[in-house]
Amino acid sequence: MAVVAQLSPSSYTETTRLSSSQLSLSSTHLSSLRRRAFRPIIRPRNPTISCSVNQVQAPVAVEQDDPKSKTNDCYGVFCLTYDLKAEEETKSWKKMVNIAVSGAAGMIANHLLFKLAAGEVLGPDQPIALKLLGSERSLQALEGVAMELEDSLFPLLREVKIGINPYELFEDAEWALLIGAKPRGPGMERAGLLDINGQIFAEQGKALNAVASRNVKVIVVGNPCNTNALICLKNAPSIPAKNFHALTRLDENRAKCQLALKAGVFYDKVSNMTIWGNHSTTQVPDFLNARINGLPVKEIIKDHKWLEEGFTETIQKRGGLLIKKWGRSSAASTAVSIVDAMKSLVTPTPEGDWFSSGVYTNGNPYGIAEDIVFSMPCRSKGDGDYELVKDVIFDDYLRKRIAKTEQELLAEKKCVAHLTGEGIAFCDLPEDTMLPGEM
Ligand code: LMR
Repeated sequence: MAVVAQLSPSSYTETTRLSSSQLSLSSTHLSSLRRRAFRPIIRPRNPTISCSVNQVQAPVAVEQDDPKSKTNDCYGVFCLTYDLKAEEETKSWKKMVNIAVSGAAGMIANHLLFKLAAGEVLGPDQPIALKLLGSERSLQALEGVAMELEDSLFPLLREVKIGINPYELFEDAEWALLIGAKPRGPGMERAGLLDINGQIFAEQGKALNAVASRNVKVIVVGNPCNTNALICLKNAPSIPAKNFHALTRLDENRAKCQLALKAGVFYDKVSNMTIWGNHSTTQVPDFLNARINGLPVKEIIKDHKWLEEGFTETIQKRGGLLIKKWGRSSAASTAVSIVDAMKSLVTPTPEGDWFSSGVYTNGNPYGIAEDIVFSMPCRSKGDGDYELVKDVIFDDYLRKRIAKTEQELLAEKKCVAHLTGEGIAFCDLPEDTMLPGEM
C-alpha cells in the first residue's frame, strides 16, 4: 500500500494568515514516518507538494488553485496526510472515527481532547480525527490547542481540523461533543440566556442535519444543556432524536461521591445512581433507587433528612460552590464526565446497573411529559444506543421533585418555541431557577 505524504503550506508563523476555512490540519502518524525515514520538509506556502514515501518518487507539484490544496492548507506535522491502510491492517486498528468538538478552545475541551487523543475513551485501537469548532475570537487559541496536540505525538490522532464553520467541521461526524455556549452575563435574564444559546444550538443542529453521519451521537454540554439539546435535535430531523444527550453524568458522579462520603465507603461501591430532569438546581439525585454495596441507600444511610435536604441540595448546587472556590466553572471533572458518558454508550452497562443521561422523553415509561430532554436512567449494550431502565421505584417525595424539574423544562421549552419550529416563544419561567453554577 503506497504511503502518500502531502506537504503543504507550513510553519506556525504562517497560520495567522490563513482563513478559518483554510485551517484544516490533516493528521499523521509521526512515528510511522520516522520508521520510514521520511523527513517532512517545511515549505513555503505554495505550491502544495505530494509525494509517495513508499516507492520513493519525485514530488509532484499541485496547482495552487486546486480546491483540494485549499482545504488541506495546514501547518506543522498535521500537514502530512497519507494513507495508513497498511498500518490499519498490520496493527488491526479500526476505521477512523470523526469526533467534532465545539467550544474547543475552552477549559473543558482542553482536558477532554487529550483524553480522546490518548485513546482513553474509544480504546487503544481506535484512530480518531478531531474537528475543533471555535469562534472568530478563539481561532488563535485553537491553533494553540492544535500545536499542543501535535507536540503530544499521539499515535491514534490522525487528523485535526480547526475552524468556525459547523458545516465544515461536522462533516461525517460520528460524535459531536457540543461544549461551547455563552455563560450567563451579569443582569442577563434566564430567558435571554436560553435565546442566545438556543440560537447557537439551532444552527449546530442544522449543520449536523446537513453533514454529519446519520448515526452521529450528540452530547450537549453547553448550558442550559437539556433545552439546548432539545433545540439541537428539533433542528436535525434526519438524525434520530434518541441520539441526542444532555450531559448529566457530572451530576451523577457528584451524587455518587457524596453518598460514598456519607456512608464511609469508596465511591465505586455506589451504583444505580439516577439524576432526574434538568441540569439545574431543580435536578433530582435519586437516593431511593441508588445502591451502596448492592443495598438500597436508605438502608445504609439512616439519616433520611440529610438525604432529602442536605444531599439533594449539595448536588444541585455543587457546580456553583465549585465556581466560588475556583473562580471558574468546573472543567476537568466535566471533561471526565463526558468521557464517562461516551464510554457508557460504547461499553455494555454492567448487569443490574445503569447510568444517567438527559435524553428525549418520547415513549418513556415513567409518565414524564413527552417532547423534552430529561435526565433518566439508561442502559446500553455498548453499541452507542441505549434503553430506558424500567425497574425503578417511585415514592411521593421523588414524584414531587420530578414534577418540579419537569415543569421547569416545559417552561424552558415554551421560551424557545421560535427555535424549535413551534411558533412564537412565550417565556414565563415559574421561578428563576438556576444552572448549578449560577448561585
Ligand atoms: C456545573 O455543573 O459545574 C456547571 O454546569 C456549572 C455552570 O453553570 O457552569
